[in-house]
Amino acid sequence: MHNTGIQIEPNLNLSMYTRPMEPTDIPRLVEIDAESNNPPWSGAMFERELGLPFSVCLAATANRGNAPIGFGVIWCIEESAQLIQLAVSAQHRGKGVGTLLMQNLFTQAQERGTKNMTLEVRETNLAAIALYKHFGFQATGNRPKFYGNENALLMTCEIK
Ligand SMILES: CC(C)(COP(=O)(O)OP(=O)(O)OC[C@H]1O[C@@H](n2cnc3c(N)ncnc32)[C@H](O)[C@@H]1OP(=O)(O)O)[C@@H](O)C(=O)NCCC(=O)NCCS
Repeated sequence: MHNTGIQIEPNLNLSMYTRPMEPTDIPRLVEIDAESNNPPWSGAMFERELGLPFSVCLAATANRGNAPIGFGVIWCIEESAQLIQLAVSAQHRGKGVGTLLMQNLFTQAQERGTKNMTLEVRETNLAAIALYKHFGFQATGNRPKFYGNENALLMTCEIK
């Protein structure tokens, strides 16, 4: 197995990498998603995702271990990339893992020739919105009741 991500060390105790998600990651990914998203994905949903030709699925790992501590998924379809999933295990948040995943998802989107990336995010999810703004995303619309009773912001970013 090879690591595809760059290594960054915003925290001296944590060396982080990204690599393609693998079927054996699924039980851990389900756990991370359960503490990150509502409703979370089931194992079958991750399995299906891994089979989609336009889906790019990355896992983040730390300290030379192979167990995922976070993951991200984008769909690259023609000129558009869409962020489908981004989650970091609760104990590893605030250490740059989400940033590393986004950097490498952008690299993958660029390599596939996409020109822009879009995403939907709960309008109350200030941590995620701040992260996306760091990457140049701007709010370009609203999706009322997108998450049941909660509204979503549509955010868009150009890929150069
Ligand atoms: C959103 C999420 C992926 C961020 O991952 P992370 O590894 O904690 O993020 P990073 O450590 O790389 O932080 C990057 C930036 O995000 C923002 N951020 C992260 N956590 C934050 C918090 N608790 N409050 C406010 N801003 C926050 C900051 O702008 C931060 O940059 P800074 O450290 O220079 O201020 C993570 O909080 C998570 O998994 N949340 C639950 C799932 C989720 O909401 N996913 C997004 C769905 S659209």
